[in-house]
Amino acid sequence: MEFSVQTANPAKIETACLVVPVYKDSDLLPAVAKLDDASEQLIGQLVSRGDIDASLANVQLLPYAPGLGAQRLLLVGLGEREKCQEAAYLKALDAAMAALVKLPIDDASVMLTEVPLADRDTAWKARKVLESIERASYRFDQFKRSPAPAQSLVQLNLMISSAGEADAAQRGAHQGSAIGQGINYTRTLGNLPGNICTPRYLAEQAEQLGRESKGALEVEILDEEALAELGAGALLSVGRGSREPSRLIVMRYQGAESADEAPHVLIGKGITFDTGGISLKPGEGMDEMKFDMGGAASVFGTVKALLTIKPKLNLVFIVAAAENMPDGAATKPGDIITTLKGLTVEVLNTDAEGRLVLCDALTYAERFTPASVVDIATLTGAAIVALGHHATGLLSNDDDLALDLLDAGDTAWDRAWHLPLWDEYQEQLDSNFADLANIGGRPAGTITAACFLSRFADRFPWAHLDIAGTAWHSGKQKGATGRPVGLLTQYLLDRENDAQVENGDD
Ligand code: BES
Ligand code: MN
Ligand code: ZN
Repeated sequence: MEFSVQTANPAKIETACLVVPVYKDSDLLPAVAKLDDASEQLIGQLVSRGDIDASLANVQLLPYAPGLGAQRLLLVGLGEREKCQEAAYLKALDAAMAALVKLPIDDASVMLTEVPLADRDTAWKARKVLESIERASYRFDQFKRSPAPAQSLVQLNLMISSAGEADAAQRGAHQGSAIGQGINYTRTLGNLPGNICTPRYLAEQAEQLGRESKGALEVEILDEEALAELGAGALLSVGRGSREPSRLIVMRYQGAESADEAPHVLIGKGITFDTGGISLKPGEGMDEMKFDMGGAASVFGTVKALLTIKPKLNLVFIVAAAENMPDGAATKPGDIITTLKGLTVEVLNTDAEGRLVLCDALTYAERFTPASVVDIATLTGAAIVALGHHATGLLSNDDDLALDLLDAGDTAWDRAWHLPLWDEYQEQLDSNFADLANIGGRPAGTITAACFLSRFADRFPWAHLDIAGTAWHSGKQKGATGRPVGLLTQYLLDRENDAQVENGDD
């Protein structure tokens, strides 16, 4: 989507459709009142006659707009003014953008950055508008014989009443557009079936991002031979039952002023299909285990967004990719494997495979002496039991890092919730035969999974995001959500901001 920021009078702006926010129980916003005056109180009259329902996220098209430069108005309800903060704003925004992309128009102008929010500035609103229009434009119909007709909207203008805010809006819109495209890329990777999106396919995606980056992203792929040479026995144990070879994908981005600045590392779980292995999963809903590479997909989406935003940071992205299948060579319950760190693991359940690929990736991350490491994984069904489908589970060995991630999640409105990682839980992983077991029994499954990972994350500040409940929707809306690209991108942009404040560049 092309975008621009305009400070012109909204009554005069020539556009195929002007998106106008309206409260249910309050006066028109000042910029909207101007519009109203130019059109003989068109909006005000419809509101007072009760012909407009300004309930939250209700949208209404006025197919023609006398006295105005706009050919149409799309009125979007903000609900009650008192209650209209981030959550309501984003709901109204998404409803408006969803309606907009269905109209037979190729440009639109929106007045949504004019809505006052107590804790959010123009840059934030502009970012959210562009992210929302990108998400609304998303299609996944490459496997359908007759795809829905293509969207005609290609240009979105942000109407800003104060010229002083134009730079902030421009910056926000640029970031929002990049984040939205990153989210959509994550959704596509997630939605692709397991017979296409294999570990080798993910490796090719990394190579392609490397080529598109024109040298900004350095890509290294470790194949099974390289992994065996290295001693990544845990990662390799997961793919043993599959015809698809495993891969460790490493992408490096050096944007900081100094090459020596410690990098932030993101690690994604890339199980391109999880049958459970010999500890086979039940059949119902097993197709959804194609989404078990959602962590990896979110890393790719974040890379995509950051290659556009170009932050001044050093970053490393690691994807641990394998397919978990049962066959004669597959790892069996009771097998003991040796991890890259040298710790031995008794595999009591081959369906607890995510932690096995991640633990070797965590050890691999040590070589970068990271400033922080965040892994992202569809790790446990227990995360869905605990938090449902709204919050991502967050566990960490460092409270400052945890707070930074919670904060980023709030800003991006891609929220996480902190769970305890107390020592008391660690003994659930005791094994009679090896250094540790790969499962910790039924109680606190999300926490014991993180406990397992923590044994491999003792050399750096580390956090784990369990996105089992947030990476995709089931049911009629089945499909990848693109979470937590918003959170991750925001987390890294916040780190860039911190670094600039420290260096006094700001
Ligand atoms: N990928 C699954 C977790 C999962 C299950 C995510 C359902 C989303 C929906 C993971 O590999 C897994 O199978 N975990 C097991 C762990 C158990 C064996 C300790 C689980 O959660 O049941
Ligand atoms: Mn599993
Ligand atoms: Zn899994």
